Amino acid sequence: MLVFLNDKIIPIEESHLSPFDRGFLFADGVYESIRTYNRKLFHYEDHLKRLKRSLKEVVIDFKELGSLENTIYELIKKNEIKNEALVYLQITRGAALSRTHSFPKEKTSPTIFISVKEFKESTEEQSRGIKVILQEDIRWLRCDIKSTSLLPVVLANQKASEEDAAEAILVRDGIITEGTHTNFFAVKDETVFTAPRSKLILSGITRGIVLDFCEKFKIDFKEEFIEKNDLKSFTEFFITSTTKEITPVTTIDYWKINDGEPGKITKSLQSVFKKVTEDY
Ligand code: PDD
Repeated sequence: MLVFLNDKIIPIEESHLSPFDRGFLFADGVYESIRTYNRKLFHYEDHLKRLKRSLKEVVIDFKELGSLENTIYELIKKNEIKNEALVYLQITRGAALSRTHSFPKEKTSPTIFISVKEFKESTEEQSRGIKVILQEDIRWLRCDIKSTSLLPVVLANQKASEEDAAEAILVRDGIITEGTHTNFFAVKDETVFTAPRSKLILSGITRGIVLDFCEKFKIDFKEEFIEKNDLKSFTEFFITSTTKEITPVTTIDYWKINDGEPGKITKSLQSVFKKVTEDY
């Protein structure tokens, strides 16, 4: 496996990091996950824009973003990925030889790491739907930043996996925010609901695409928080993300929704998404 570290593509065995890297010590970094369709990076400009915003919000000064797209394609090529790729890109504040909570006095040079792997979405999950569990959202109050500091969602997702669920949906003060690595949608009376853009959720690229579809195909939608206690008044649920695309949710905790059948609006959004990605 070849990876990109700082300024070159190298075998993973030759990639070394300082243990003082602030990504390692403090999870002081940001990231993006991007995938290809027809070997083209999907919505790359949107990912880049979100990455720039995350960097700005955590005050990491990394300017060399312009050449990254070519680097990613080169990395995909050199890894001889035959079909589609999933790209992981992380930038940390870098290493300074002392551990201080505040930014190091001497200017650090950010660490950039990119890896790629062959990727295929789960058609089984997408056609049959998934089980999710509800978990308390114990994350910080800047979930709009795509930070590598992910311990609360690591634990929530682990709990899901132990309960044979594919995702944990997070609840903060009685309202549903999002999944551990997905956005959450619900449908009631032919209207699609999802949490509004705010500091409580990540503004997902796939979320944006789904809302654009709703606008284009005249499906009513509301960016409003869904209350946990109100869940049973909705008739369809789905999650979205780069890796899950649009995946129906057919079980929430012990509640099997609609006899385990993915919903009608969910399925029509999935078919539009499929067409768009096939033609990308
Ligand atoms: N996760 N919400 C959270 C908390 C996420 O981490 C993600 C993405 C999303 C969906 O965003 P998008 O549609 O842009 O992928 C929502 C990525 C896939 C990850 O953690 O690897």
